[in-house]
Amino acid sequence: MSDTLAGVAVVGSANLDLVVEVSRPPLVGETLLGRAGGRFSGGKGLNQAVASARSGAPTRFCGVVGTDEAGDVLQQTLADAGVEAAVRRSAAAPTGAAHVLAFDDGDNSIIVAAGANAELDADDAVAGVAGAAVVLAQLEVPVESVAAALRAGRAEGALTILNAAPAHDATIELLGDVDVLVVNETECAELGGIERLHAAGAQTVVLTQGAGGVTLHRAGDDPLHVDAFRIDPVDTTGAGDAFCGALAAALAQGAVIEAALIRACAAGAVVAQHRGATTAALSPASIAALLGSR
Ligand code: RIB
Repeated sequence: MSDTLAGVAVVGSANLDLVVEVSRPPLVGETLLGRAGGRFSGGKGLNQAVASARSGAPTRFCGVVGTDEAGDVLQQTLADAGVEAAVRRSAAAPTGAAHVLAFDDGDNSIIVAAGANAELDADDAVAGVAGAAVVLAQLEVPVESVAAALRAGRAEGALTILNAAPAHDATIELLGDVDVLVVNETECAELGGIERLHAAGAQTVVLTQGAGGVTLHRAGDDPLHVDAFRIDPVDTTGAGDAFCGALAAALAQGAVIEAALIRACAAGAVVAQHRGATTAALSPASIAALLGSR
């Protein structure tokens, strides 16, 4: 593993997404017949790392997968995207799996079985962020490991970004080592709202609102809203992850946060127009094409 990355280090989960298309969620005790399905590479960490690399930044992914075929699939996805894989293979647990219900309107519901993701430890995380300009983490791996990654990144002078997904009470305790917090509306509400997050030390909060765009909340400043790109979504799985990965990439490349947010919105829109949580269609060129369409 290189310790002179100078780009983005993503610490987080890698899952195999088992997707089934269905018109609505099943009721308790009900069996529903779905339509087409498929297996896709996923996991918030992997998705964000792939998006960062496909947005043009040197990117490392730090995670743990099993020694099974699913782990091979995920490693291939990282390789195809040009991500440096700091991936530990564990014989003790299977690769993480996500069960994704993809609804007709492009929205989804997801249940994750953590598997090997639960084995990502603080040593993995600290090694994974060495030399990075930007450290990006989420909360699908043990929170102590996320804390270690953010602390180590901070100590090395990296910009630290936490995507508090899924929402976790411990987020508040992590904020002292977080430069940019990214939350969706549900996560923000679960954490007590923007004002509580500011009061708890989050100076910069990015609130993502799906088709409603994103709003930048900086403590002491007026909120700044960025509209979403108008698209017809095919599958929104991973769109938020693409946003986070592209945001990290743009900041690592020296963009100011206002410009980085627009690029990140474009990346999310590209991913939402394709099936699966990652897509080879994401590139600096496809981001630029959407930016040019505004
Ligand atoms: O954010 C989408 C991701 O959440 C999916 O790829 C799934 O694996 C879960 O981690």
